[in-house]
Amino acid sequence: MQRPNSAPKEANVPIIDMAALRNIGSEERSRVIEEIREASCRFGFFQVVNHGVSEPVLDEALSVASKFFDLPTEEKMKLLSGDVHKPVRFGTSLKNDGDKVQFWRVFLKHYSNPLNDWIHMWPQNPPDYREKMGRWSEEVMKLGIEVMTTLIEILGINPTNNLTQKIENGMQVVAVNYYPPCPQPELALGLPPHSDYSCLTILHQSSPGLEIMDSEDNTWKLVPFVPGALQVNIGDHFQVLSNGLYKSVLHRAILNNSETRISIASLFSLGLDDKVDPAKELVSAQNPKRYRESSLRDFLNFLANNDFGSEGKNFIDILKLKNN
Ligand code: OGA
Ligand code: NI
Repeated sequence: MQRPNSAPKEANVPIIDMAALRNIGSEERSRVIEEIREASCRFGFFQVVNHGVSEPVLDEALSVASKFFDLPTEEKMKLLSGDVHKPVRFGTSLKNDGDKVQFWRVFLKHYSNPLNDWIHMWPQNPPDYREKMGRWSEEVMKLGIEVMTTLIEILGINPTNNLTQKIENGMQVVAVNYYPPCPQPELALGLPPHSDYSCLTILHQSSPGLEIMDSEDNTWKLVPFVPGALQVNIGDHFQVLSNGLYKSVLHRAILNNSETRISIASLFSLGLDDKVDPAKELVSAQNPKRYRESSLRDFLNFLANNDFGSEGKNFIDILKLKNN
């Protein structure tokens, strides 16, 4: 496993103005659409500003997350589970791999859309957890739908295939990550390199630490920290849907030795059993189908049998069709 670089270069990723995107029919909208297309095809990653998730909602989600991780261990252990099919679970990935790179992360994951189906299973402590994290989940869901709809518009996929509806009714997994300070951050990683299984992921972070792989020069680059901006990355299922046009970005989290870092990722998928296949409009004799179909449940079954963080195969690798 590659060790982190103590002084990584910054990634040159665009900052997309969502307000311009909302200005229907304007020239600036066409420009922003072009920026999104380019970033999604080149990196599979961009940041968004003027995104509509208000500052108090962002701040309170981080502070209530922090309060959750500060609870006594016994309280959190009630939610401990290694079963990837559980709708709410707490876990740790403090471990060594063969090359002695350690992973320093504690996490809480829960299903979140529609909120009323799941919120009663979320932690009861801290007492305002459900309210604050619920608000974040709902607001970021709206943003996620908007970004995913735009990404589909860019692909030119026929809107009659009810994909939009499947997205609105789809699964949202909120992953709250807690990375304690690490005395020797150059010997450890918060999260090992991975791509997200989702269609799309939106991340909110308390401090820098997210790195993406720049496939042009094959090096890790730090995502510049822009206060108030949210990070957007394409996941495996949109790489599949776009028949490889969009890239599911390889990313990882690095650590620091001075402060705890918290990130809240919201992963959007279709329903558990909805199959994602390359869009017909993007498959032709010249451009054959590159991936087999799969659902979120297929991914969870894969995850249950494959240790996340080992350098084995990623989910997207098993979806690739052999003939091209
Ligand atoms: C994730 C993830 C990155 C981070 O939760 O899938 O990639 O910076 N998180 O915490
Ligand atoms: Ni991720």
